[in-house]
Amino acid sequence: MVLRLAAAGHHVTGVEKSAGMLTSAADRVAADPEIAERVTLAEGDIYTLPFEDGAFDAVVCHGVVMYLTDSVAPLAHLARLVAPGGVLSVLTKNQLAVGVREALSGDYASARAQIESGQAASVGNLGITTRGDTPEHLDDLARVNGLTPLPWQGVRIFHDHRTDWKPTENEYREALETEWAASSRSPYRELGRLVHAVARREATA
Ligand SMILES: C[S@@+](CC[C@H](N)C(=O)[O-])C[C@H]1O[C@@H](n2cnc3c(N)ncnc32)[C@H](O)[C@@H]1O
Repeated sequence: MVLRLAAAGHHVTGVEKSAGMLTSAADRVAADPEIAERVTLAEGDIYTLPFEDGAFDAVVCHGVVMYLTDSVAPLAHLARLVAPGGVLSVLTKNQLAVGVREALSGDYASARAQIESGQAASVGNLGITTRGDTPEHLDDLARVNGLTPLPWQGVRIFHDHRTDWKPTENEYREALETEWAASSRSPYRELGRLVHAVARREATA
């Protein structure tokens, strides 16, 4: 995300807890001097981010809170960094769709257990247990932190389940367009492996 946002012309500050991941990110940024001049990388923890309130026009946290115990404290820490008129973008595991992956892969016992309990934790792509949030919960957390939720999207609705998929460039583009069309429409968006919740802090007059 740091590379993509910087390539789009934004000044980006990337924060990462793991020194190894930070080094890897730094190497990739350094490989592109035009982008590197707009990027600052820092080692840090989501619970103790060393920035002033309202320091950023956009706060992007993708693929992180699913690894944390819950989303309440992390989202409070992130929301305070959003400037008036700015946005908070959170991408995480979708609790509404627990059990879908397991059922499609034939692991019916796990699928049933998850579907019947609606449990938030299950084993993700990397073999690590991850925790889901519902879109409603993420929107509520945005509200209690002074932000206004925008319509949420489902992400990886279809292609997340195609483990042996090796698309051509054209198939990949077609798949992305299909995901995009489904991402904001029910009932498809509810089945996304991930949920993308975006919320805005109202601009001050
Ligand atoms: C799946 S990666 C996502 C990375 C990136 N956001 C992306 O979309 O490519 C999750 C990252 O969160 C980091 N992380 C986990 N707990 C964290 C914490 N408490 N504070 C900051 N980063 C954390 C991990 O070290 C890991 O690099």
